[in-house]
Amino acid sequence: MKYNALKGVHDIFPPDIYIWQKVESAAEEVFSAYGFQEIRVPIIEATDIFTRSIGETTDIVEKEMYTFPDKAGRSITLRPEGTAPVVRSYIENHLYNQPSPQKFFYSGPMFRYERPQKGRFRQFYQIGAEAFGAAEPKLDAEIISMLKLFLERLELKELNFEVNSIGCEKCRPDYKKALSDFFSNKISGLCPDCNRRYIHNPLRILDCKVDACIELRKNAPQVTNHLCGDCKEHFEGFQSLLKLLNISYVINPNMVRGLDYYTRTTFEVTSEEHLGSQKAVAAGGRYDRLVEEFGGPPTPAIGFAIGMERLVEILRNQNSGLHSGPKAFFATIGPKADTEGFLIAEKLRAKGINVELGYGDASLKSQLRRADKLKADYVFIIGDDELKSGRVKWKNLRDSSQGEIGIEEIPDFKGLRNQP
Ligand code: HAM
Repeated sequence: MKYNALKGVHDIFPPDIYIWQKVESAAEEVFSAYGFQEIRVPIIEATDIFTRSIGETTDIVEKEMYTFPDKAGRSITLRPEGTAPVVRSYIENHLYNQPSPQKFFYSGPMFRYERPQKGRFRQFYQIGAEAFGAAEPKLDAEIISMLKLFLERLELKELNFEVNSIGCEKCRPDYKKALSDFFSNKISGLCPDCNRRYIHNPLRILDCKVDACIELRKNAPQVTNHLCGDCKEHFEGFQSLLKLLNISYVINPNMVRGLDYYTRTTFEVTSEEHLGSQKAVAAGGRYDRLVEEFGGPPTPAIGFAIGMERLVEILRNQNSGLHSGPKAFFATIGPKADTEGFLIAEKLRAKGINVELGYGDASLKSQLRRADKLKADYVFIIGDDELKSGRVKWKNLRDSSQGEIGIEEIPDFKGLRNQP
């Protein structure tokens, strides 16, 4: 019997896993510098948490959630995103009692029943960040700057920052009305989903991927022309900080995002080059009303999530993050040399140095082939002659330099020291 992974899910293993680890540690390092602390929330939550926050008329809630009754008949959902669970935790654990702003980051799998394609999976990983308790544009700019620094740390190039403001509960009704008026004589040309969206939330039409709807919305009113005074001031403040920070960005007035909880600032980091039609590597925005809607105190908030698979795909194409192999490989000939190599390897490993050995009865040739494949820095060759003379040959596989060293001196060999 042959088992395969489910459609739209995937295993992550070497060498890709090294890119994943590099991304995760860069996130931890950069986000910590901005005062973000890790939070771990469950993968399963009560379904309501997502329907209420993401919104009944969104694609995620309408079509993509892994929802099932548990054995007691409660409706459970595998989290399709991380913001709603973090908000739930923030309120449930009274984290708002700590001095504001409170900043958290998380990473882990999310689940959406989407049609799998390049850059789109049913189980995918996000690294996300959420900050609670500050409304001023400074936090928005700080978040963008943090994301930029993180991407630069990974040497990611050619990424675009797209920003928008989608207003607040004061100005949104006016904009929705303008959209409804605009689409009122185009309803028959819209897809069936957008016909429903027209009634429940015309903003969602701006997010539709159907060609006919994209065509029909070309001259739709732009949200940035319908912002109230406060939202306009906020958006302008945000942009002037981005300019001060020398962050290039474009305003994308059609970016309404696929989730309903957003207010004011929204943003996406996109890549033209590597991701086919799934261009967004990271995305987020403000959600100033959500904590209160979930029963917490009024708390402005903002966050984003990075799509790990998409980021890793770009890094793979850029050939970055490739793992370095073991520092040393001991190729041995005969059982005595094998034991000697094993003992020296153990000494080096105790110092935290990555060492590999030959196994089985592999010939010297095949051991050297393996050392090469593993991308070892140094190979040490030990046989009976070396044991007798107490000196072994080493070779640096990177620059082909070679030499000899006393067996006893190997643990102190300069080339094997880990970089500080
Ligand atoms: P989102 O735009 O739904 O936002 O997802 C964020 C990122 O996750 C996307 O830009 C993309 O890179 C990745 N992503 C989404 N769906 C998939 C998929 N099926 N396969 C692979 N990657 C995917 C959110 O999830 C919000 N919670 C972000 C946020 C945090 N807003 C405020 N705080």
